[in-house]
Amino acid sequence: MLDWPSMPFAPTRRIGILTGGGDAPGLNAVIRAVVKSAAHFDIECIGLEDSFDGLIYPHRSRPLTLRDVTGILRLGGTILGTTNRGNPFVYPLQTDEGPVDYSDRCVENFHKMKLDALVVIGGDGTLAIANEFYKRGMPIVGVPKTIDNDIVETTMTFGFDTAVSFATEALDRLHSTAEAHHRVMVVEVMGRNAGWIALYAGIAGGADIVLIPEIPFDLDKVAARIVEREQFGARFSIVVAAEGAHPVGGRRSIVAPGTADRMERLGGIGERVAIEIEALTRKEARFVVLGHLQRGGTPSSYDRMLATRFGSFAVDLLVAREFGVMTALRSPDIIAVPLERIVGKTRTVPLSSDVLRTGRNVGICFGD
Ligand code: F6P
Repeated sequence: MLDWPSMPFAPTRRIGILTGGGDAPGLNAVIRAVVKSAAHFDIECIGLEDSFDGLIYPHRSRPLTLRDVTGILRLGGTILGTTNRGNPFVYPLQTDEGPVDYSDRCVENFHKMKLDALVVIGGDGTLAIANEFYKRGMPIVGVPKTIDNDIVETTMTFGFDTAVSFATEALDRLHSTAEAHHRVMVVEVMGRNAGWIALYAGIAGGADIVLIPEIPFDLDKVAARIVEREQFGARFSIVVAAEGAHPVGGRRSIVAPGTADRMERLGGIGERVAIEIEALTRKEARFVVLGHLQRGGTPSSYDRMLATRFGSFAVDLLVAREFGVMTALRSPDIIAVPLERIVGKTRTVPLSSDVLRTGRNVGICFGD
């Protein structure tokens, strides 16, 4: 393991910025806020491409000036590129050798590039890598992102609001066609092992049934609710299924299992549920998978605001030389939380959540 120059950290004059993991609307807004706020303090910014690849291969980095971030606030995706297959500690080479540890190389390149600190914008996986580098002495500030809203210690992550707004609009559109054809429409949404997107979009979009990973569902109860609706004259039903939802005693639907350098891919629950509902109720059922449409496109104003606040605060932390922390929303404030506190944890929907109770109060069936 390489040695690190002795603490305390040098004044922050030149920083690297990277985005890692799946994209989320608002990433560009963070990059823009970091570059603009850094300029305010005379700090130079270097953009690292495709997550930590920009540290592994220094030629994949470039200066980020005010000019470079002009006009990116409203853009989805990330101008730096991203990947969720680039953990430098187990870096997947396209050879038979298997993964290699490029962490020393990253530390060396960090010095060669004359960086004083790194802003790492990413989800739990990327922030865990950031924490490993911090433990090896690299001055790092993390910024949490994910449409799943499943990072602990922050009330909300940017990207979530945009994903929920998109899913809500989809539910609005599906209502009219479901009603016209007297059908059941099952809408599969993202969220991995947390039901936040399903829960929020389900309530905002007036769904009748919402299936989330936190509450294993009983299909007989789901079918009973659909029949009950039929009896009072509602001849259609809208079901929202989180991709990680599963029946009581049953398994999640997995498209591809996880590997050393990649998380498992979830998907297929919408189709499974639609088939079962049709068999149990004899009503026609269709399914729609919203997939990556939830991640693409322009960020909502809420996400732009949160992303901009996170980016600006990240620079404040760099200037104050407070490292090994992540920006977090603790309404109404933005605070710093030690990365150590969030590693390996997932913020799922608590069964005591008032949002869940709200859903039940307005008549949503959670399949339990
Ligand atoms: O974590 C964000 C997310 O969109 C999840 O909701 C989803 O399960 C996953 O990423 C999909 O990842 P990928 O784009 O790599 O298939």
